[in-house]
This record gives sequence, structure tokens and C-alpha cells, in this order.
Amino acid sequence: MTQNEKLTKLIQLTINGESRPLLVEAHWTLSKVLRNDCGHTGTKEACNEGACGSCTVLIDDIATPACMVLAIEQEGKNIETIEGLSKDGQLHPIQEAWLEEYGAQCGFCSPGMIMSTKGLLIKNANPTDDEIKEALGGNLCICSNYEHIINAVRSAARKMSKEQANV
Ligand code: FES
Ligand code: FES
Repeated sequence: MTQNEKLTKLIQLTINGESRPLLVEAHWTLSKVLRNDCGHTGTKEACNEGACGSCTVLIDDIATPACMVLAIEQEGKNIETIEGLSKDGQLHPIQEAWLEEYGAQCGFCSPGMIMSTKGLLIKNANPTDDEIKEALGGNLCICSNYEHIINAVRSAARKMSKEQANV
């Protein structure tokens, strides 16, 4: 066995509903693999130590900083990135809310904020402001656009509840 064979492993990851084989090194984080090997550059990297939330994705519906988990440990789980949100050219209600409420200034934090919002609204369709602040507490916005972001989450919750009611 060569040195390379010892360090790499062929794994199967399910990303945005699609299963794909990936040859990864044991120490590669999920954020690196998403960005460098899958082209999902919507997953942003800044601190690389779990402190900013810009790399947040959903793993089995739980908002998770992708820089803090190893890709090799994600086999058999459903990974959802910002690229998986819009369907058939139609923005997801959370993305619509972000646009309407000016949730983005520079936009760098938006993918992570939006994925944390989706994780929150999956478990709590009608969060209070305190619950929104708590759920987004790990996501930092260097532009300090928090007021608009919280408005966007409120609006997304209303939109999604309305959609549910119409199903
Ligand atoms: S880049 Fe992952 S939390 Fe900052
Ligand atoms: S909008 Fe710029 S970092 Fe949040």
C-alpha cells in the first residue's frame, strides 16, 4: 500500500439529495470538500474554527458548521448546502425573505445565516425573537446587519407557515 492509499478513502456523500463518490483525505473538513471538490462555494469559510458560522450547512436537518466536521464521517447523512435551496429556478421562501427584507449587505454571511434559519424553522415553525437570536447566535455578520436579518427570519417563518397551510 502506498502512502497516498493509506491517507485517502473513497466515500459516498449525499449532498442536496445527490449521492456522489469522493476521494478524501482523513483530515479534510466537510467545508473544504464541499468547496474544493464539489464546487459548492456558497458554503463560505472564514474562521475555520467554528466561531463565525459562515460555513453552516444542514446535516440531517441540523445546522452545523462544516469546518468543524470531517467529510469522512458524513457518509449516510443528508447534507444540504445553500445550493440545494432553490428548486426549478424558484427561490426558497427563506431566500425570498432575505431579498425582500435586505438580509444581505455584502452577503458573505448570508448562506450560513440562511442555512441556520432553515435548521431553526424545521424544528420551530413560529420562533420568538429570542429563539431566532439564539438559533443564529453562532452566525456572525461583519456588516452588523442583524436587524434586517431578524426581520428576514420572521418573514421567512410567515411565508413557510402560509405555504404549509396551503398544502
Ligand atoms: S468558517 Fe466555519 S465557523 Fe467560521
Ligand atoms: S451582510 Fe456582510 S457579513 Fe453579513
